[in-house]
Amino acid sequence: MILVTGGAGFIGANFVLDWLAQPGSEGVVNLDKLTYAGNRHNLASLADDARHVFVQGDVLDRALLDRLLAEHQPRAIVHFAAESHVDRSIHGPEDFIQTNVVGTFRLLEAARQYWSALPAMQKEAFRFLHVSTDEVYGTLSPTDPAFSETTHVAPNSPYSASKAASDHLVRAWHHTWGLPVLTTNCSNNYGPLQFPEKLIPLVILNALAGKPLPIYGDGLQVRDWLYVSDHCAAIRRVLQAGRPGEIYNIGGHNEKTNIAIVRSICALLDEQRPRADGVGYASQITHVTDRPGHDRRYAIDAGKIARELDWTPAETFDTGIRKTVQWYLDHPEWIAQVQSGAYREWVAKHYAG
Ligand code: NAD
Ligand code: DAU
Repeated sequence: MILVTGGAGFIGANFVLDWLAQPGSEGVVNLDKLTYAGNRHNLASLADDARHVFVQGDVLDRALLDRLLAEHQPRAIVHFAAESHVDRSIHGPEDFIQTNVVGTFRLLEAARQYWSALPAMQKEAFRFLHVSTDEVYGTLSPTDPAFSETTHVAPNSPYSASKAASDHLVRAWHHTWGLPVLTTNCSNNYGPLQFPEKLIPLVILNALAGKPLPIYGDGLQVRDWLYVSDHCAAIRRVLQAGRPGEIYNIGGHNEKTNIAIVRSICALLDEQRPRADGVGYASQITHVTDRPGHDRRYAIDAGKIARELDWTPAETFDTGIRKTVQWYLDHPEWIAQVQSGAYREWVAKHYAG
């Protein structure tokens, strides 16, 4: 059994589905609070699968963590649960400190207590995998080398500061007590099941709805995109063969400006679902006020995980973005479901001014 936190969110749900699809895989206890970003619908295909135990709960709840560890005796924890959206962290950082920092601390403490009491062989095999982000490294100039595992940590947003803080806690629990931790710092993910507050799904859905496609500032900020199933495969590989105490950067070697991303989505939609009036979707592009403190460029050097663990991404950006656009076109019921309730409140609040 493994314990996954945040497994009803975008990457967590993709990971749980991918994990259980592997031949001979162990079961998953999936602990998720079901915030606005958590969605049981993402896991609907596992409704009758006894290998998946879903528990609605908070990583801040130490008693619950202790109970789940004692009851299910997992051989690993994969920690996805977090507040993940930079814009939200600017509007209200409190939840980011609570879940990302205090929540990771609670989980580390529960894991340490559980792991300390394991028999020697299980203790040796146990892993705590912390899923983190390239945003902890801050921002790059156009000529800087890509982020490596030894790049100085310099987070710029409340979100990235909270993730950097959690990375430091994870490191300290290894160095102080020997907890066998692994940390992954990954670039921007995209693909099925991503909540439409993030750039790629927001643009696909706004385009189809005839709404503006908001580009923050000049749109020349650069992100390094990775298709989500490649991230899931990398996490599986790190869990299997990563060295405790090590950091692994994960990225897709796909540096793109935001405006280029949006234009490529528009081109795919023009091809697959042309507007009735024959006008291209790019006509909906609208430059809006920039994000405060907006990081200019991220780029990942994923050489270590390639060399040491033989992981490289299977998808190029062209294949991944085509699959992604197609997935959203094929899943109108998923879109309708996430566009109700909490999502509407967020959009109304965020774009109100
Ligand atoms: P998401 O916002 O889609 O999902 C987060 C999940 O965590 C949700 O299901 C939510 O209900 C759950 N959650 C939130 N607070 C919780 C709490 N207190 N207790 C239990 N569950 C809670 O996020 P995502 O994009 O899937 O990101 C998952 C992880 O990967 C995060 O740690 C994020 O920092 C990291 N990451 C994301 C990206 C990316 O591009 N999305 C890239 C690198 C790393
Ligand atoms: O780099 C990894 C990070 O990628 C993860 O740790 C975060 O959890 C994830 O949210 C993502 O952060 P970003 O801020 O890069 O992602 P987002 O999709 O919000 O924005 C991508 C870029 O697009 C960024 O430069 C801001 C810009 N943007 C975003 C939105 C939502 C726009 O120009 N317009 C928009 O409407």
